[in-house]
Amino acid sequence: MQALISAHSGLRWIALLLLLLAIFNAFTAKSYEKKHRLVNLFTMITFHIQLLIGLVLYYNYMTPKIGENWMENDASRFFGMEHISGMLLAIVAITIGHSKSKKGADAAAKFKAIKLWYVLALILVLAFIPWPFRTELGAGWF
Ligand code: HEM
Repeated sequence: MQALISAHSGLRWIALLLLLLAIFNAFTAKSYEKKHRLVNLFTMITFHIQLLIGLVLYYNYMTPKIGENWMENDASRFFGMEHISGMLLAIVAITIGHSKSKKGADAAAKFKAIKLWYVLALILVLAFIPWPFRTELGAGWF
């Protein structure tokens, strides 16, 4: 379980970097190239891996707590409810954005989908990552 937590925690940086790069491309690129499509795709794949690892962690994190007053504890309420709901919405937004960018008729339409949906996802991800400065959550930088 510790290995999965470390993988999930470390992969956050790759997920964030890819997401930022995809958004940067959408706002700055002049034409839509294969490398842009690949960054959009790898962003979605990384977030889906986070989803899978996260669900395993969730199952193992929450199951032992059922019956306790987990909603009254900051950390277990955050991971058991806020983190999972916020991240699920972010991953849905990324999946919609990726699909719409694939279907877009031209570069402008493809990048527009990324500007809207990936930026929305970024806001959610930044809001619902257990940052180390939220000391009550007990999570680290890696
Ligand atoms: C719906 C998808 C997700 C689920 C269900 C989920 C679930 C969880 C759970 C249950 C934990 C607590 C682990 C524990 O301490 O036992 C956790 C921690 C964490 N999650 Fe997620 N997660 C999801 C998506 C994400 C995403 C997309 C990111 C970042 C891009 C992320 C970043 C983190 C970080 C940084 C931690 C703290 C790890 C540590 O303790 O150092 N999660 N997640």
